[in-house]
Amino acid sequence: MADTGVLETLLQRVEKVDDGVDSLDVATSLGVDHQVIVGAVKSLQALGDVISAELRSSKHWELTEEGTEIAEQGSHESRVFSCIPLEGLAQSELMKLPFGKIGFSKAMSNKWIRVDKAHEGGPRIFRTVESIEDQVREKLFLVQKGNSTQLEEKEKNELKKRKLLSEVTVKSYWITKGNSFSTTITKQETELTPEMIASGNWKEKKFKPYNFEAMGVAPDCGHLHPLMKVRTQFRQIFLEMGFTEMPTNNFIESSFWNFDSLFQPQQHPARDQHDTFFLSDPAHAHQFPQDYLERVKKVHSEGGYGSQGYKYDWKIEEAQKNILRTHTTAVSARMLYKLAQQKFTPVKYFSIDRVFRNETLDATHLAEFHQIEGVVADYGLTLGDLMGVLHQFFTKLGITKLRFKPAYNPYTEPSMEVFSYHEGLKKWVEVGNSGVFRPEMLLPMGLPEGVSVIAWGLSLERPTMIKYGINNIRELVGHKVNLQMVYDSPICRNPPTHF
Ligand code: PHE
Repeated sequence: MADTGVLETLLQRVEKVDDGVDSLDVATSLGVDHQVIVGAVKSLQALGDVISAELRSSKHWELTEEGTEIAEQGSHESRVFSCIPLEGLAQSELMKLPFGKIGFSKAMSNKWIRVDKAHEGGPRIFRTVESIEDQVREKLFLVQKGNSTQLEEKEKNELKKRKLLSEVTVKSYWITKGNSFSTTITKQETELTPEMIASGNWKEKKFKPYNFEAMGVAPDCGHLHPLMKVRTQFRQIFLEMGFTEMPTNNFIESSFWNFDSLFQPQQHPARDQHDTFFLSDPAHAHQFPQDYLERVKKVHSEGGYGSQGYKYDWKIEEAQKNILRTHTTAVSARMLYKLAQQKFTPVKYFSIDRVFRNETLDATHLAEFHQIEGVVADYGLTLGDLMGVLHQFFTKLGITKLRFKPAYNPYTEPSMEVFSYHEGLKKWVEVGNSGVFRPEMLLPMGLPEGVSVIAWGLSLERPTMIKYGINNIRELVGHKVNLQMVYDSPICRNPPTHF
């Protein structure tokens, strides 16, 4: 709201005239910036029909920089005139002055001065009149004071030609009285309060109308966390490659599906309290496919299917222990077992979900993270198929340079760590783990001989951190996350080029 003083002064001006006033004239006569009056007009318009204001554009004369200088110091010709003493001045001296050249020719054509060319010591200039009238300066004064209408068009155009005046288009308001014109301003209510309703005084109040043209505040809306955005991208890649998503909606898993079914021996260090979170309530799971459980027990303790097993005393109690799943491969095991119970058809499965490990927390490790896993089952799949599918998968992410390094997993043979060349870091970085599931895992499930299953896994956090330039995982996940980061993180339109 503009200053009430300005509003009331403006209203008084409008009251005095019949046909209206121009906002620009009001500004000039009040000696305030035009924007102040424009602001007052807007405030009055918001009050209802107090005034009516019509926008119009008018041409308007203004002094140029040089024009302003002349208005202050006089025209070049008048300055030439005033620096010539009675005994005259050498023309060469005059020409040295900044206003000398133009001033000389104008003063000559005004017949204010003359040149004595035959003067000894070179041409000399003398006054021809006693006094002069600096009309140029006077005219500029008129324009400066906003009285340019007192000048003839021809005069103004001449000054324009001399680059002392310029004509500018200005937008102004033509202000007239509105239907509810008044010179006093009554503040309009912006809200109907319970008190007004209770006392009934709302009847006397004036309410400000809604301005439906006002720019609204951008509404707050949900923003996806970067992890969820990158998850969408990976899901899209799998879907493009014809993979089906596995149901991963169980964070709690039995040791049986998380470890035993994957031919991971019961003494394996990963099954220790230090690496895995065990549940105290319910501490155990009891429902397992009995015949399958027997086959798993047998392959661990005695071997079979051409394997000598681990030769140890396999205990059901160990397999029953409930844990927070340490990898999504537990879900893959469940799905492959389910597949083995039907007539076999080749499948391509994937999952992206949360896993838990009892880790020492640091800048790159948390006790929970997301795993991305891909599984393909078909007759006769080889390590070459695994390398091929990994190439296809990573190419879709923009990663084309891959290297494989022999590794060990209890459930895969052979196993390979996957490395990609990171263009930014200029080195090979590990991007995943992979392998061909062992017969000791697949055959007890009941999958036909000759069917092999290739699989790979990677974390979701790592590519996300690289893509979003986050160095500390705690800035991405957990209570220290700055929500502004989520708000500001743009939608990923392109796959990450490298991670
Ligand atoms: N489960 C493995 C991990 O936790 C990843 C993996 C999945 C490896 C499938 C081989 C095959 O890292």
